[in-house]
Amino acid sequence: MTSTQTLILWVLIFCNLFLNVKLLENGLARKPPMGWMSWGYYQCSVDCENNPSKCLNEKLLLSVADKFYSEGYMEAGFEYIIIDDCWSEKRRNQFGRLVPDKKRFPRGMKYIADYIHKRGMKFGMYTNIAKKTCMGYPGSRGYFKPDANMFARWGVDYLKVDGCFVDENFLNVAYIKLGEHIDAAERPMVYSCSWPYYIEFIHNKKPNYTTVAQHCNMWRNYHDVALSWDAVKAIITHYKDAYTELSPHHGPGKWNDPDMLILGTGALTDSQSRVQVSVYAMLSAPLLLSCDMDQLTANERELLTNLDLMAIAQDPLGVMARPYELTNSITLWVKPHLPKKGDAYNSVSFALVNLAPEDTTVSLAPGRYGLNSTDGYTIMDIFARTFLRNITLNETLNLTVPAEDVILYTLYPL
Ligand SMILES: *[C@@H]1O[C@H](CO)[C@@H](O)[C@H](O)[C@H]1NC(C)=O
Ligand SMILES: *[C@@H]1O[C@H](CO)[C@@H](O)[C@H](O)[C@H]1NC(C)=O
Ligand SMILES: *[C@@H]1O[C@H](CO)[C@@H](O)[C@H](O)[C@H]1NC(C)=O
Ligand SMILES: *[C@@H]1O[C@H](CO)[C@@H](O)[C@H](O)[C@H]1NC(C)=O
Ligand SMILES: *[C@@H]1O[C@H](CO)[C@@H](O)[C@H](O)[C@H]1NC(C)=O
Repeated sequence: MTSTQTLILWVLIFCNLFLNVKLLENGLARKPPMGWMSWGYYQCSVDCENNPSKCLNEKLLLSVADKFYSEGYMEAGFEYIIIDDCWSEKRRNQFGRLVPDKKRFPRGMKYIADYIHKRGMKFGMYTNIAKKTCMGYPGSRGYFKPDANMFARWGVDYLKVDGCFVDENFLNVAYIKLGEHIDAAERPMVYSCSWPYYIEFIHNKKPNYTTVAQHCNMWRNYHDVALSWDAVKAIITHYKDAYTELSPHHGPGKWNDPDMLILGTGALTDSQSRVQVSVYAMLSAPLLLSCDMDQLTANERELLTNLDLMAIAQDPLGVMARPYELTNSITLWVKPHLPKKGDAYNSVSFALVNLAPEDTTVSLAPGRYGLNSTDGYTIMDIFARTFLRNITLNETLNLTVPAEDVILYTLYPL
């Protein structure tokens, strides 16, 4: 080789080292995470003296762990207990470390992590990518490495990283940088990013989901859920409209995150709760409750511990259901999943979702939505937990979906 050729070769090797795209393969979140997160209901409830029944403290986190353990939620798959903003002192200590609020977390975070781990569950925490968190507590800018290592030492299994107060360029660099420190820390941590939400809705740009999915295990796409049916409807409508953009980036280890479930907050009727959980299950979305666990109704508890429903939510293929608008108010969501008959025929779930306040009747020919087992399918009603009937690919079902409700069927190939 001439020296020019040698030089070119070295330049190629050098470029390859840096252009070689490294995927986030930390082996985590192979199924969409399930659990509980404080923000939706508790927000920044730090005034514990005046409002002891709504207080973000150690007792609350331990009580969620106890409820998950003793009331069947853990068996249904609920696993992560995550504290959001407002957990720390207002200042770092003299060594530049974050310090948990001394009154509300007197034994520190490692104690809580150990308590949760002992019961076979996992612990999640929160920080923001800027100097301050969204609520004005110290954020991680300038401390990515020591903070990542400290969360690992505390026994954190999941880190939500918010994106308040910084510009788009910083977001695009910092989420990657912080992710590298989390990856290098001595404990595996699910990396939950708010990055694309801030890019799209705060900075009015298109997120690059290829990049986001290379660096994060899950990410927020849309606004925080408020405690209302209108908020739930807006979220469902957003994922319907954004399906084509979002679904290619979604799957094991990398999930679009529509934010928390609001069951147990009194904001939804039973049928509206059924709609929120069903659509999230169909999307293969993370299922994170945010409520006082004692306020879940019997109906809500039955939904959340319905193992047929949770099997759809946690299906290993992790497909995001495809939406079809059947009428102005009814969307059919279709999700292929396991078990398969042989190699060729998936089971498929159909969710007929009615967001309108009137009952609506539709004709549905399941064979038109990608089913192909010529032996037909047997239909199970997921809420009644019964097998309804068998159908061939030619048949049409006429179904009335009640107002603000959902019909959810799984079709198993015969
Ligand atoms: C998104 O990022 C990837 C690399 O992560 C890059 O290849 C691609 O060109 C980017 N897309 C756009 C639209 O900028
Ligand atoms: C049936 O459809 C599935 C999904 O569309 C496809 O993967 C499979 O190959 C099809 N099977 C046959 C026998 O066409
Ligand atoms: C559906 O088909 C299966 C297999 O052929 C059969 O065993 C079952 O009895 C059928 N169910 C109904 C409700 O017809
Ligand atoms: C279904 O329709 C096809 C033609 O579209 C027909 O050949 C077949 O006999 C029909 N099967 C049933 C069970 O009606
Ligand atoms: C379903 O409704 C359509 C009209 O929308 C009708 O033609 C068909 O006969 C109905 N099928 C059954 C099984 O009731």
